Amino acid sequence: MTADAQRGSTPNNATFSLTDDATGNSTELPVITGSLGPSVIDVRSLYSATGRFTYDPGFTSTGSCESKITYIDGDEGILLHRGYPISELAENSDFLEVSYLLLYGELPSEKQKREFDDTITQHTMVHEQINYLFRGFRRDSHPMAVMIGVVGALAAFYHDTTDIQDPRQRMIASHRLIAKMPTIAAMAHKYAIGQPFVYPRNDLSYSENFLHMLFAVPCQDYEINPIQAKAMDRILILHADHEQNASTSTVRLAGSSGANPYACIAAGIATLWGPAHGGANEAVVLMLDEIGSVERIPECVARAKDKDDPFRLMGFGHRVYKNYDPRAKVLHKTCHEVLDDLGLDHEMFNIARELERIALEDEYFVERKLYPNVDFYSGIILKALGIPPHLFTVIFALARTVGWIAQWNEMIEDPHQKIGRPRQLYTGEKQRSYVPVGQRG
Ligand code: CMC
Repeated sequence: MTADAQRGSTPNNATFSLTDDATGNSTELPVITGSLGPSVIDVRSLYSATGRFTYDPGFTSTGSCESKITYIDGDEGILLHRGYPISELAENSDFLEVSYLLLYGELPSEKQKREFDDTITQHTMVHEQINYLFRGFRRDSHPMAVMIGVVGALAAFYHDTTDIQDPRQRMIASHRLIAKMPTIAAMAHKYAIGQPFVYPRNDLSYSENFLHMLFAVPCQDYEINPIQAKAMDRILILHADHEQNASTSTVRLAGSSGANPYACIAAGIATLWGPAHGGANEAVVLMLDEIGSVERIPECVARAKDKDDPFRLMGFGHRVYKNYDPRAKVLHKTCHEVLDDLGLDHEMFNIARELERIALEDEYFVERKLYPNVDFYSGIILKALGIPPHLFTVIFALARTVGWIAQWNEMIEDPHQKIGRPRQLYTGEKQRSYVPVGQRG
């Protein structure tokens, strides 16, 4: 049996032929089939066989790894974690159970679930010295900037889990990251608004504890609203992993050099911050606020279609989904429930729904298969929970940490893993000789 067959992918004896027009030489490349989705052409031998590289900016046709964690069928709008549809997980599971599934590959038994919840709960506090690290930041810093710094600095506090070749250390680091992200995210919020940090409470669930750390103050108890806690948990589940997106690929690339897990996750957070990626949830709410009324939607749609205007409809479009993002479907429903349950004004939700309706009938969006993505409705829910927009992407990062760390672990255990090192098409100057400054024209 070959290494490929042992690991779930099958070289199916099919080959792909390439003919070089310049030399007439033909090269046969193996085709590998996974358990779902299109098979891939294995180009690993391409350079040695032909002296040529592939060119694929944005990696639209390139598979960078083999993975068993998440499957997406973008045309059908399907998202599976370890085989389970996201809608079923969002409906029936909780975030820590999904975290267990992503990390270990199977849903836990009752005992495993209890032990996992307990392990994560035992790691929620951060080293006390981290309090002082926060104080080095300006109060008006964007919390994502603070997150990158503080998470990167965890390697300085938890040296005992930086040997990436030791599976036990890797797992403790994974648990620590999942457990401490809500604490660090809440500290970033408290620091920005000038309130004291709130310590975690181990008698609460993961999402309840996060809300407690965000909203409790020493002078008043914070009463957990179960609807809000459930909505937060669902948002975390829906953001937990999403295959080889920009931030996950960054984590894998950083990890491929042997960097420690805290540094890798900090790199993922940095990538997630961009408005084309996780930063979109903050941008959606700012956009909906700016639109302000249903009457102004056509103006906004016209701007999004204007090629001379850099404006894009935030929360619309996806590299992989050419259909409704299944996560947006769940969030649309959740949004309705949360606003109803909390008795909140639906104005922003109504603008969002009308914007979606108009865009989905517009030829520009139809032709390009641009549908609402996960970020379109998540911001409205987070706003309804009383969370300020600058924390939206932080919450995305908190949720995605488990996906990043599961993918990072999988990469380290992959016998095919090598340091990530793409090639390039060089179009710069050919070799030339140095000219002393006085002799340059
Ligand atoms: N508004 C207007 N036009 C758009 C939009 C949009 N939101 N998204 C794509 N297009 C157009 C784009 O101008 C291009 O048109 P043309 O073919 O005429 O040049 C066409 O659709 C294809 O777009 P692309 O930029 O080549 O597609 P991509 O796969 O490189 O980009 C994307 C995907 C998500 C970056 C992009 O759709 C976008 O910028 N969306 C808005 C930001 C957003 O909501 N991001 C969250 C993504 S989901 C959560 C996450 O993964 O973090």
